[in-house]
Amino acid sequence: MWKNVFDWLDERLGLNDLYKNLLDRPEPKGTWWNTLGSASLFLFILQGITGIFLTVYYTPSPDHAYDSVQYIMEGVAFGWLIRGIHHWGASLMVIIVFIHLLRVFVTASYKYPREMTWLIGIGLLLATLGIGFTGYLLPWNQRFDWATLVGTQMTGGSAILGGFILNAMRCAPTLRAPTLPLFFAAHIWMILAALAGLIGAHLYLIIKHGESHFPTKED
Ligand code: HEM
Repeated sequence: MWKNVFDWLDERLGLNDLYKNLLDRPEPKGTWWNTLGSASLFLFILQGITGIFLTVYYTPSPDHAYDSVQYIMEGVAFGWLIRGIHHWGASLMVIIVFIHLLRVFVTASYKYPREMTWLIGIGLLLATLGIGFTGYLLPWNQRFDWATLVGTQMTGGSAILGGFILNAMRCAPTLRAPTLPLFFAAHIWMILAALAGLIGAHLYLIIKHGESHFPTKED
């Protein structure tokens, strides 16, 4: 019976072709260093899952954000755990993505034909930093407030467009109430969508080109 169901779906969705193209490939001959991309992907998914749970109780308004986070920590079952994983997972993701970049650089895996994989990777690094930065403000307490002030101020210092970008990021010349909903929207929607799209393109290219190997003497 299951075979009939599978055949019915396969004829309509091409499941066998999907399996052959995506998963039925020779096992990559790498070292532990080649697992850092997958570790980044795992952390991205973990952040997504814990983030969804957090949005159930988090309120992105300056009047309620701080209290809603306190409630998650003290009033919600395992709220402290979910928030802790999301908080430390964010830092770990930045570190792992960066070490993954260093590995790719050291093994010169950015060269032909993987230049686009590298360029998309740069986008992934920026998006990872952006999603971490916007998330830092969300608890709406003093520490995170100052971090955002310093971070946005640094962007404002850049030439020509600095002032414009600074105002756009804060929705005002100083850190004001609209900054919080803006950062929240960027955090859970805009940057997340960019990150998901870039990861899809990154993985497509990795499947297309296969993985590089560590250079040997002959190389
Ligand atoms: C969210 C961030 C990222 C995810 C989820 C991700 C995912 C992956 C995965 C699963 C692989 C294949 C296995 C591996 O080599 O570990 C890979 C390879 C690769 N990644 Fe990333 N990556 C990310 C960030 C980056 C960054 C920041 C760069 C560089 C700027 C980059 C450049 C590359 C390149 C060039 C390869 C091919 C390496 C090879 O064939 O040896 N990636 N990535």
